Amino acid sequence: MRLSVIGCGYLGAVHAAAMASIGHEVVGIDVDAAKIASLSKGEAPFFEPGLQEILTSGIASGKLRFTTDMSAAKGAKVHFIAVGTPQRRDGYAADLTYVHAAVDGLLPHLSDGDIVAGKSTVPVGTAADLATRITSTGATLVWNPEFLREGWAVKDTIDPDRLVAGVPAGPEGERAADFLREVYHPSVAKGTPFIVTDYATAELVKVAANAFLATKISFINAMAEIAEVTGADVTQLADAIGHDARIGRRFLGAGIGFGGGCLPKDIRAFSARAEELGRGESVAFLREMDEINMRRRDRAVQLVVDALGGSVFQKKVTVLGAAFKPHSDDIRDSPALDVAVRLHGLGASMTVTDPAAIENARRVHPQLTYVEDRDEALRDADAVIVVTEWDEYRRQLTPEHAASLTSGRVIVDGRNCLDADAWRAAGWHYAGMGRP
Ligand code: UGA
Repeated sequence: MRLSVIGCGYLGAVHAAAMASIGHEVVGIDVDAAKIASLSKGEAPFFEPGLQEILTSGIASGKLRFTTDMSAAKGAKVHFIAVGTPQRRDGYAADLTYVHAAVDGLLPHLSDGDIVAGKSTVPVGTAADLATRITSTGATLVWNPEFLREGWAVKDTIDPDRLVAGVPAGPEGERAADFLREVYHPSVAKGTPFIVTDYATAELVKVAANAFLATKISFINAMAEIAEVTGADVTQLADAIGHDARIGRRFLGAGIGFGGGCLPKDIRAFSARAEELGRGESVAFLREMDEINMRRRDRAVQLVVDALGGSVFQKKVTVLGAAFKPHSDDIRDSPALDVAVRLHGLGASMTVTDPAAIENARRVHPQLTYVEDRDEALRDADAVIVVTEWDEYRRQLTPEHAASLTSGRVIVDGRNCLDADAWRAAGWHYAGMGRP
């Protein structure tokens, strides 16, 4: 099937390449000429495992192309809207400028019977607003939220754990859902749940899922705060409650909390929208989750300060990690970098290393020192803090090897990803998040 994908960021570029990899003929469209130039050469403009391969093969097969020209959408049967919806500068609500611009740009190129599939994360009610304009061209709007995780984006797009289609009532909606079934034919054929809803439910499924994940992380981080004043161990606690299948161990990793381009802004936009709807109190707990999350960054900073005797002034601190999570070069709202910047503000001399995110981090925080090589970064450090649990730090760095490079023996484990006993046995002062 011929498809167009409007917006070629993390979501759209992966979606376009993934759809080509399952046999569709896809054009990816974006206003950013530099991004389009790089994608057209088969170069992924960001780090995402597996993306490079499907980009290269898609372009080589002729099934995938990229352009800045919106008229290239003409002739496609399904048009995906995959632009960003960042937090507004003036508050918590989502900024829908790019969604409206994408729809404005697309309208003149729509034909009768086309499907427009919204993938961007939007406040509930957006699809209903957009539908009138889209329907006037003879096209049908469906809302088809995306649940991909960065670092697993290719796999999550090609083989998602569920598909959701918010459609208008009646035969038009059924026809639109059938089009999406055809688009996602390999998943549908293998029995992946395909849930057809109305617009509002589809929009809410997305924000509810992210709100739940954020709440789960902040819940365990709240337990970490209690563990800190009682001497309990939050990782054992998480293991123990996680054995209960109703709770589950995933997303119970206590540490410096969640960041990235989705969870933080999505829970804020959700509260803002609930307030607009007169139901602010229903999700008031999300503000609390946000606060717990931000407090964990303070705690990590405090652990470094305490371990260095009450002041980090002129101390050399090495930060292992900059990305908001491993397998990503994304530094949007990265707790890792926030901790580094705060320590820098306290007068520490900061060296940051990361296997993928250094370039992005340097652009946004040029005041920090960046060193690509992990061992070089560790050299002569008074203290080390792990803030992104890449395997290079979690599995491959032994306390003995680290000790051969650093001058101090202080390690703060901001992700509770190290073997505390092993580091202590090797003579290190180890401090975790909610661990004795
Ligand atoms: C998140 C959701 O997981 C996806 O399902 C969703 O599609 C996506 O947002 C989106 O809305 O686009 P992502 O932002 O890629 O995906 O990252 P996650 O894997 O959810 O991690 C978010 C943050 O939580 C990271 O900073 C991670 O380090 C942190 N985290 C995760 C914890 O602190 N503890 C955990 O146990 C798990």
